[in-house]
Amino acid sequence: MDIEELIKIEKAKKKIFKDESVLDINYVPEKPLFRENELKLIYLELSPLLDGIRATNLFIYGVTGSGKTMIMKYFLEKVVPQLGKEINYSYVNCREMKTEYKVIRSVLLDLNVPFPKTGLSTSDAYEKLKKALKSPVLVVLDEVDILVKNAGDDLLYNFSRNDKVTIVGISNDPTFIDLLDARTLSSLKRKEIVFRPYNAIQLQEILRQRAVLAFNEGVLDDDVIPLCAAFAMNYYGDARKAVELLHLSGKIAVMEGSDIVSADHVKKAMKELERSSILDLIRSLPNTQKCVLYVLLKLFERQKIVTLNDVVKAYELVKDKLGFPDVSYKTISRILNELETYGILSGRVVGRGRGKGVSKTIALKVSLDTLKRGCEDFLT
Ligand SMILES: Nc1ncnc2c1ncn2[C@@H]1O[C@H](COP(=O)(O)OP(=O)(O)O)[C@@H](O)[C@H]1O
Ligand SMILES: [Mg+2]
Repeated sequence: MDIEELIKIEKAKKKIFKDESVLDINYVPEKPLFRENELKLIYLELSPLLDGIRATNLFIYGVTGSGKTMIMKYFLEKVVPQLGKEINYSYVNCREMKTEYKVIRSVLLDLNVPFPKTGLSTSDAYEKLKKALKSPVLVVLDEVDILVKNAGDDLLYNFSRNDKVTIVGISNDPTFIDLLDARTLSSLKRKEIVFRPYNAIQLQEILRQRAVLAFNEGVLDDDVIPLCAAFAMNYYGDARKAVELLHLSGKIAVMEGSDIVSADHVKKAMKELERSSILDLIRSLPNTQKCVLYVLLKLFERQKIVTLNDVVKAYELVKDKLGFPDVSYKTISRILNELETYGILSGRVVGRGRGKGVSKTIALKVSLDTLKRGCEDFLT
């Protein structure tokens, strides 16, 4: 690409965006919408901390993109300072810190206590934390279900036994509580707040609030925001998807050198987002599922429709050469059903002709290319 091309894009960008940074996923709005009640509840539960007293542990649930992270950050970064108060806190994203050691180290660093990345044990970390904690601290464990699924519930247990620590656990998955040991549950006296999913109208308002800051006046076609909101309703009212889609639509308009963002740009952005979320999904599948998916890929490269029997046979043929695990007919059938619920496949039970029973045929719901890309990562 030459410089002139870049200058052109830069110009197009200035035409479309006023301030692109407000479309960033971590942006915390000046005034969040629709979550006054939830904010009030958080304030009420955590207010002892404003006076330096330990508060009750709090768990926040809600689907992805319902504003949990944003409201918690808003409370800590904007509300508390505006009250002229201070809370001693550590915010930990458990998607990144998936082990006890990493979480404790992250808390220590937030408390300005140096701690090595490796070389010491988890009990060393607890020891250090115990010594470091002179006054109450709030530990926000965002996406805490990921920590528990990966490393068990020892950290929750140990933190709940520490009389200086108040825990806020945030999770998309309320059922993770079932994974906790009875001993942890009883030690972890807790309050719970649920963030209900947004509806389409609310999503539109959230987008409008963001769009006024992000885009130049008159740049967005009228149907852009309703389209973005409708798309996010397919994801249980996920505001993150909605904002992401609006952002990507703007970027596509820029790349095309357009002066406005139109429904057409949104549609292109939707395709792109769908594709990348399928890729993420494929990457996150357990190994056996990926092996079955790989065999499916090979079959779909040759034919449009495959049957369960085709998959079982093809799997048997290649498994030893590729070092895939042994799986039973039943397991393959179950995995195919799972892939169907993820929207990767569509299945149909069909008659095989009079007296011959029924069989299941499977078609691919994503493009062969997407599947190929997902599987490539896995095999290399
Ligand atoms: N009520 C709201 N008002 C304004 N923006 C919101 C609201 N709820 C969510 N958002 C925005 O949507 C995105 C996703 O929110 P987030 O807090 O990350 O969701 P969660 O943590 O529940 O998955 C963020 O960019 C956030 O700023
Ligand atoms: Mg979050």
